[in-house]
Amino acid sequence: MKLLVTGGSGFIGSNFIHMMLHRYPHYEIINLDLLTYAGNEATNECVRNNPRYTFVRGDICNPTIVDELVSKVDAIVHFAAESHVDNSIKNSLSFVMTNVMGTHTLLEAARRHGNKRFHHISTDEVYGHLHHDEDPFHEHTPHRPRSPYSASKASSDHLVMSYFHTHGLPVTISNCSNNYGRFQFPEKLIPLFVTNLLEGKKVPLYGDGLNVRDWIHVDDHNNAVDKILHHGQIGHTYCVGASSEKTNKEITYKILELMNLGEDRIEFVEDRKGHDRRYAINSGKIQSELLWTPQISFDEGITQTVEWYIANAQWWKNIKSGEYKKSNDTYATGV
Ligand code: NAD
Ligand code: DAU
Repeated sequence: MKLLVTGGSGFIGSNFIHMMLHRYPHYEIINLDLLTYAGNEATNECVRNNPRYTFVRGDICNPTIVDELVSKVDAIVHFAAESHVDNSIKNSLSFVMTNVMGTHTLLEAARRHGNKRFHHISTDEVYGHLHHDEDPFHEHTPHRPRSPYSASKASSDHLVMSYFHTHGLPVTISNCSNNYGRFQFPEKLIPLFVTNLLEGKKVPLYGDGLNVRDWIHVDDHNNAVDKILHHGQIGHTYCVGASSEKTNKEITYKILELMNLGEDRIEFVEDRKGHDRRYAINSGKIQSELLWTPQISFDEGITQTVEWYIANAQWWKNIKSGEYKKSNDTYATGV
């Protein structure tokens, strides 16, 4: 099996590549990643000399590159995206380009090259947000995105399904909740807070700190993607989550406790515009159909994650200082 993974120099995609190359000794992976500010090919140091791994720096919106790579593989696993909600509030154009146009470019190539298997990585944010007493999102919850990020992801989900209905493209979609774990870019809540604390800084908690996210370890998410890729029903969506709802305040106190620090390190700051109040996922379908279950409890996963950021300070310090861009720049764009 030859896979084209997009966005494999980012957080979830890199972890997926490491897992798949280890788990399937005959699989080959091509990673197509533009190395935007969120990409860091140093993350893939551990597979760089693996003959079954190929890195191509390129834009998923570029039909020439995409066409050539899609022609070489059996399946596409599509992670590449602009992924940070705060950035989409400041400037949403790149979100529309990458998340909508980029997904369209990949779908077109998959169709032209004999309807290649296509798995699309999406988010629970397409379903909007929940009040505290509402039931978790499930596969039939209507899309009601509320940020430019989630609107662009919802658009991409619709495009993916339209290629199934119109062209018979063998697609699946996973809509997952908030991921955490090793190699997450230090702009997102958990790595930002852990690395700020390690630098002696405060942590900026938005609004009242009572917004709720449903946390899942990145390895549990990627195990779900593996199951769906191999055994998922074509044309189906799978909601993925670990039923681990926490307020941002709870997350912050847990990190402070693990790092032996006090609440004086919290700084309440202005709220995010249009801040979604609560996300929660019902993953009953993937649990019963594909026998997937999350393996890592939040307590175990967050402890491991904090320890990982402590032990791998050079990785995030290179990002925070901007040094990582120099090694990214050694990769020229093209096939
Ligand atoms: P990330 O921001 O860490 O990584 C995104 C990667 O995509 C980066 O390596 C970046 O360089 C690359 N990229 C961006 N634009 C590109 C383009 N035009 N062409 C090629 N590559 C490009 O993101 P992540 O957190 O790993 O998320 C991966 C996917 O999972 C996204 O589709 C996201 O919507 C989805 N998702 C994320 C979470 C989460 O909690 N992080 C949860 C559910 C779903
Ligand atoms: O639900 C899945 C989504 O989770 C993914 O689709 C997105 O790609 C991913 O970025 C994530 O979105 P969130 O907006 O939930 O993640 P973020 O880490 O940015 O924020 C988590 C919560 O923490 C949110 O309620 C905002 C809050 N927050 C975040 C930051 C960065 C703060 O209070 N302070 C901060 O500095």
